[in-house]
Amino acid sequence: MPFLVIDGLSKSYGDVHALVDFHLSVEQGELISLLGPSGCGKTTTLQALAGFVLPTRGRIVLNGRDITQVPPEKRGLGIVFQSYALFPHMTVAQNVAFGLEMRGLPRAERDQRVARMLDLVHLPDLAQRYPRELSGGQRQRVAVARALVIEPPVLLLDEPLSNLDAQLREAMQFELRRIQRKLGTTTLMVTHDQAEALSISDRVVVMHAGRVQQIDAPHRLYEHPQSRFISSFVGKTNLLRGRVRGRMVELSTGLQLPLGPAAAADGSELTLCLRPEKLVLLPAGAGRLPARVTERFFLGSQWLYRVHCALGDLEVATANDGREPWPEQAELGLGWSDDVARVLPPEASAP
Ligand SMILES: Nc1ncnc2c1ncn2[C@@H]1O[C@H](COP(=O)(O)OP(=O)(O)OP(=O)(O)O)[C@@H](O)[C@H]1O
Ligand SMILES: [Mg+2]
Repeated sequence: MPFLVIDGLSKSYGDVHALVDFHLSVEQGELISLLGPSGCGKTTTLQALAGFVLPTRGRIVLNGRDITQVPPEKRGLGIVFQSYALFPHMTVAQNVAFGLEMRGLPRAERDQRVARMLDLVHLPDLAQRYPRELSGGQRQRVAVARALVIEPPVLLLDEPLSNLDAQLREAMQFELRRIQRKLGTTTLMVTHDQAEALSISDRVVVMHAGRVQQIDAPHRLYEHPQSRFISSFVGKTNLLRGRVRGRMVELSTGLQLPLGPAAAADGSELTLCLRPEKLVLLPAGAGRLPARVTERFFLGSQWLYRVHCALGDLEVATANDGREPWPEQAELGLGWSDDVARVLPPEASAP
């Protein structure tokens, strides 16, 4: 039996269905991200797991024990909330030691565990500072240390890195993953940042309007989105309409692409997902069809082009290899390999 089972969890506030029939089984040591736009039910899910929100329906089973009705303080989970609050009148060390003190651990062991945890989050020299004397990123790390030090069976993180600048945020993402792996802590992390979810999770749960849309490993999720929403929420995408002709899909221009393993009735209409970085810009005359560059944006490691072609307006991302980019208005050719177009499932294909 999986370590943590969330079985048909639902939460309604009057007419607002914040969470609808949420199912998830988590193995011990996994890091799972809950990803979705604002208001999709991420915090509600985490709060129900923590015990602060009573679900309308469903069960939570941790290590074989039904904890659905167990009060929060008896669940023993580590929690870092969306607005992480440290105790302002306590030093960093006292903040981190708090949970251990509550559990009545002897002084010597407490000090040892706090020191080890501060080492782990790279804050050994700040133990005697107060929260007001710390930067946002340092506070964030204290909050994570405080949650981890009690060695909880499950760590719940609600947008734990949301207040950090891009650089610190990325550094902390990798750090969090490293610590989580080292301690083997089963972790559920809420984020609305897809790059964060993809880069450090074992699996990602994509939510939309209170419902789970897809649960998959990051690369699988990115390469095989099961809905239009996911194809554009997780990464960028070009969506193309096509009609099934045997084992091929015919696009509006008459261009044909292999259908791949998808099951679709001959003659039916469907939607193809073509990621911008899978498209290539070539000199005029080359590739599958002519295309004109209408706009160009510099993203640092990549160039993002908007091009106009017989299939409509598409986005193309190319690696910045250091050479001059294609100019706007350039008349070029557009190409891609056969196997990079993904067919969305028929039920998700409707425009
Ligand atoms: N106590 C409440 N009473 C009524 N509606 C609520 C309550 N708490 C949350 N909701 C509603 O439930 C839905 C889900 O809210 P939730 O906080 O889970 O979203 P979220 O995915 O965490 O969003 P964000 O990314 O903005 O934090 C929202 O429509 C919200 O307005
Ligand atoms: Mg939230």
